[in-house]
Amino acid sequence: MKYALIGCGRIAINHLKAARANRFEVAALCDIVPGKAEALLARAEIPADAGIRTYTDYRQMLAVEQPELVSIATESGKHAKIALYCIEHGIHTIIEKPMAMSLSDADRIIAAAEKSGVTVSVCQQCRFNQAVQAMRRALEAGRFGTVSHCSVNVYWNRERSYYEHDAWRGTWKDDGGCLMNQCIHGADLLRWTLGTDIARVYGVTANHLHGYLETEDMGTAIVEFKNGTVGVLEGSGNVFRENLEETLYLFGSDGKVKLGGNSCNNVEVWDFADVQEGDETTRTLREPAPNVYGHGHMRLFQDVAEAIEQHRPPYVDVYAGRTALELILAIYKSQKTGQPVDLPLDSFSTEDMEGIFGVKTI
Ligand SMILES: NC(=O)c1ccc[n+]([C@@H]2O[C@H](COP(=O)([O-])OP(=O)(O)OC[C@H]3O[C@@H](n4cnc5c(N)ncnc54)[C@H](O)[C@@H]3O)[C@@H](O)[C@H]2O)c1
Repeated sequence: MKYALIGCGRIAINHLKAARANRFEVAALCDIVPGKAEALLARAEIPADAGIRTYTDYRQMLAVEQPELVSIATESGKHAKIALYCIEHGIHTIIEKPMAMSLSDADRIIAAAEKSGVTVSVCQQCRFNQAVQAMRRALEAGRFGTVSHCSVNVYWNRERSYYEHDAWRGTWKDDGGCLMNQCIHGADLLRWTLGTDIARVYGVTANHLHGYLETEDMGTAIVEFKNGTVGVLEGSGNVFRENLEETLYLFGSDGKVKLGGNSCNNVEVWDFADVQEGDETTRTLREPAPNVYGHGHMRLFQDVAEAIEQHRPPYVDVYAGRTALELILAIYKSQKTGQPVDLPLDSFSTEDMEGIFGVKTI
């Protein structure tokens, strides 16, 4: 299947490697900054004469190359416009997280995907972590008994140099703060674990150590689900010196699990009333990851290939993209209004947060 990549920055190498490993025919790469597509080829150690063409205009690339699948790895604020263009041109599309910056744009993408019938997936790839998959199987098998609560903690480090590197980072228009950028995987896992139906969200965010950004650098939320369970999400880029952990705790009447590591990639506690064969192995499951992005892109691209082939929905679809986005936007709205926010949320955008903390000065 012919594939093309739009956006050749930091995360793009995961897309390129995942596309090649899953035997897509990589036809072309595009970045508006001249030279970045070529630099990505060099980073991936692909020779310039390997037959992968480079472009600076994605519309031109799509017209010339006619790929069947694209992935979009531009800054977040551009995802929606480019995704709509691709979907409306009948191209299967993988969108980096967050799928959009507003619920109205997410809804436009969903409507376009439903209308065109192409496969659209969102890179919330932590769902594919082996540890997360093990917990998911136990949950679906009812091993937790009555689920009580779940807590996700993203304790990472993002310093000034990270934000200085690209103008879009830490802006409401194109990024959002640590919750939208770094914690959306955690929001996705929390919602996926406790059920998508949320009654209300109590959110508090702040900017403590990054006064030169527009957005929050820490945030926390209590999430009441309609089924009575309670979720807690806490995220921060303020951890001194280096990333500490992304952990998930899930508690039920008959079991408890803690996933740890830098991005929920290890099992740290695995304890159930009904001891089963395989529990010993699962208890020590470690999936070393080179960075916080993990190996999930590889599996997500594989899933998309199979979804297209088998005419089935992808494992992480546009609705999953929207539910994660909705939770983060509800936290933002709660911070803005000082009130709990009832879901479903019909409309809210990161841009509704403009002026909350200040302006970007770097
Ligand atoms: N899934 C994950 O774990 C994960 C990890 C990191 C980043 N991301 C997401 O990936 C996206 C990109 O992040 P990044 O760190 O690679 O950013 P980046 O700034 O390094 O890369 C973005 C690239 O897109 C290019 N670009 C912008 N507009 C374009 C256009 N119209 N056509 C073609 N190229 C265009 C930019 O020139 C830049 O090279 C963000 O949305 C981010 O949230 C996801």
